[in-house]
Amino acid sequence: MSRNKPLLFEVYPGLKEKIPWVPILSNVPTSVERLRQVEKYLGIEGGELWIKRDDKDYHIYGGNKLRKFEFIFGRILKKKRKGVITIGGYGSNHCLACAIISKLFNLKCELFFFHQPLTWHVQQSLLLYNYFKAKLHFNKGILGVAFNAIVFKIFHPKNYAMLPGGSLFFGIGSPLGIIGFINAAIELKQQIDSGIIEEPDVIFVAAGTCGTAAGLIAGFKLLGLKTRVYAVAVSMDWIVNASIIMKNANKALKYLRRKDKTIPDIHIDEDDFELIEGYLGSEYGVKTKRGQFAVDKVVELEGEEKGFKLETTYTGKAMAAVFDFLKSQENKNKKVLFWNTYNSNDLSKYLRETKMDFSKLPKKFHKFYQEKTFQCWQITDCPENIRNNCPAYLNSEYRFWKITECKLDPKKSQKAIEYLTEVITLEES
Ligand SMILES: Cc1ncc(COP(=O)(O)O)c(C=O)c1O
Repeated sequence: MSRNKPLLFEVYPGLKEKIPWVPILSNVPTSVERLRQVEKYLGIEGGELWIKRDDKDYHIYGGNKLRKFEFIFGRILKKKRKGVITIGGYGSNHCLACAIISKLFNLKCELFFFHQPLTWHVQQSLLLYNYFKAKLHFNKGILGVAFNAIVFKIFHPKNYAMLPGGSLFFGIGSPLGIIGFINAAIELKQQIDSGIIEEPDVIFVAAGTCGTAAGLIAGFKLLGLKTRVYAVAVSMDWIVNASIIMKNANKALKYLRRKDKTIPDIHIDEDDFELIEGYLGSEYGVKTKRGQFAVDKVVELEGEEKGFKLETTYTGKAMAAVFDFLKSQENKNKKVLFWNTYNSNDLSKYLRETKMDFSKLPKKFHKFYQEKTFQCWQITDCPENIRNNCPAYLNSEYRFWKITECKLDPKKSQKAIEYLTEVITLEES
C-alpha cells in the first residue's frame, strides 16, 4: 500500500511541504509480536518480551535504514541529485540498503568502504552491492576512506553525500535520517494507543552510528512516553557515546522546531536514556560468544517460526544485552520491546543470480574471496542440486554445522564441520 504522507505530518501538519519525504516502506506499521518462547527460556515472571518487526518494513530489503531513507532520499530527489555517495564497512547493511534504494530511484550509488573482519556475510554483501548496480571503491585505512569520498564528491558535485549510517557524524550533517525514527516512535505510540501493545518499560536497540536510538529517544520524549531506550553500543566508543546520542537527538528536534514552532521545545540529556556497553567485543563486526549465542537461541526458539533473523554485528549483541537484563531478578517483571533493525527478507535469489562470481567486482576486492572463510558446501564440494536445497547454502549467520539434515556422505560433512569449527573464532565478551 503506498502512503501519501508520513505519520509525522499527521501529528504536526505544519511540517508538511517543509520537510522532504518520499514513500519507500511497503509494510508499515511493522508488527509487534510477543516472544513467549524466549520469555519461557529466560524464566521471566510477570514481565514480557516483544519484538518490533522493522525487519519487514520494505519488501526487498527491510531494516532500520529504510525508515531513515524516506526522509534522506526525499531530499536527494528534491535536489535532483544524480547519485549518492556513502560510506560503510565491507559488509555494511547501510550500503546494501543504499544500493537497493538508489536503483529504485534510478540514481547512481558510489560506495566507499572501511575495514571490518572478513566473514561470509562480507563476501555476500560485496556481491550484492554489485548486483544492485552500486560502484565499489576500495580504500586504505579509515582516513583513506574519508579522503577518497571527499575527493570524489568534489569532482562529482551532483552526487549527494550521505554520512555513514544515514546519521550525523560528530554532530555534523543532516538530521533527516534521525527524523525517520521520530516518525517510527509515532508509529509505536499509535500501536500503544490502539491497545496492540502496552507501553513498554524499556526498548533495546543496537547503536552503530546512534541515529536509530537517538530518533526513538527524541520521539518518545516528544510524545510524552515513559518508555526508556537502552542503546546497546556495537561500535567503538568514539562513535557510540552519550554525547553523540544527545547531539543526534537534539539536532533533529531543533530542525523540526525550526520548521514548525508548534513543536514543543524539548531537549535530550543524559538522564533520558541508557547507554549499554560491554557487548561490542574487540572491534566493530567481530562475532562474540554472547552475541552468537543470543542469535542462535532466539532464532531456534522463535525466529524460524516467525520468519525473522538476527545477525552478529548489531542485533545479536543487542539481544545478548536483553538476555542479561531480563535474567536479572530486579527486571523480571519489566515489559521489554526489542527493536529489530535487521532485514529478514530472503536475498538468496539475488545471490544465486550472481553465481558467486567475484570476478565481476573491482580487482582489489578479489582477495576477499581467496583468503580463509570457506563455507561447508565449498569444502565438501557439494553438488549444485543438493546445495541449492540446503538451508546452509547462502546462510551467512546461522551455524551450518548445526544442520543435521546434510544430504552428503556423513564423512564428508564431518570434515567440513571440523574445519569450520577450527576456522570460526568467537570472542569471549
Ligand atoms: C542491522 C543494523 N542494526 C542497527 C544498526 C545501527 O543503526 P544506527 O547506525 O542508526 O545506530 C545498523 C546500522 O548499520 C544496522 O545495519
